[in-house]
Amino acid sequence: MTEAKRLAAEKAIDYVEDGMIVGVGTGSTVAYFIDALARMRDRIAGAVSSSDQSTQRLRAHGIEVMELNATGSLALYVDGADECDPHKRLIKGGGAALTREKIIAEASKRFVCIVDPAKRVDVLGKFPLPVEVIPMARSLVAREIVAMTGGQPVWRDGVVTDNGNWILDVHGLSIVDPLGLERDLSQVPGVVCVGLFARRPADVVIVGGEPPLVL
Ligand code: A5P
Repeated sequence: MTEAKRLAAEKAIDYVEDGMIVGVGTGSTVAYFIDALARMRDRIAGAVSSSDQSTQRLRAHGIEVMELNATGSLALYVDGADECDPHKRLIKGGGAALTREKIIAEASKRFVCIVDPAKRVDVLGKFPLPVEVIPMARSLVAREIVAMTGGQPVWRDGVVTDNGNWILDVHGLSIVDPLGLERDLSQVPGVVCVGLFARRPADVVIVGGEPPLVL
């Protein structure tokens, strides 16, 4: 799938325009996008990054990383996903960067999602749903998730997010109402972010291939 990820990332460069501040996601597919973006670093104004990992890669390529508070809304956000349904709703957070990713997606006019073909599903949920939680609420939130969804939350032991929080991965879901589940889980005290992108789905999905498929 490595080549498919690279092809999707290269295609996303078509959406980058001169003078843009580009929102940049996180993950192995985005790493290819950052490498491609470096070729036009003198033509863009900079980037807003969703993780320390992406920030390091952007800076290593000489791309200026800016604070979202200083830029206002963005024209473009490019990010990967763990699953994508036919309505461009996503599961994200396999790389634990879901909260900042959701913030930048919300702040962006166009969200271009770059995936390999294995990420496409009819119904979200085979990939365990990441939920970022305040550490002291881990057990409480886990119990609430079981009661609300019947899924099995598993603590991603040893992982601390860039925001200092923990991740629960919820197994065994078949998400027929992504918008409702995103809304309901987001209201549980202690939940920082749910890795469902249904309220703010992608606008464009690029599936890597020869040629890439643009949905
Ligand atoms: C990061 O938290 C995730 O949302 C990634 O965007 C997602 O896991 C996709 O990662 P890959 O591009 O590495 O498959």
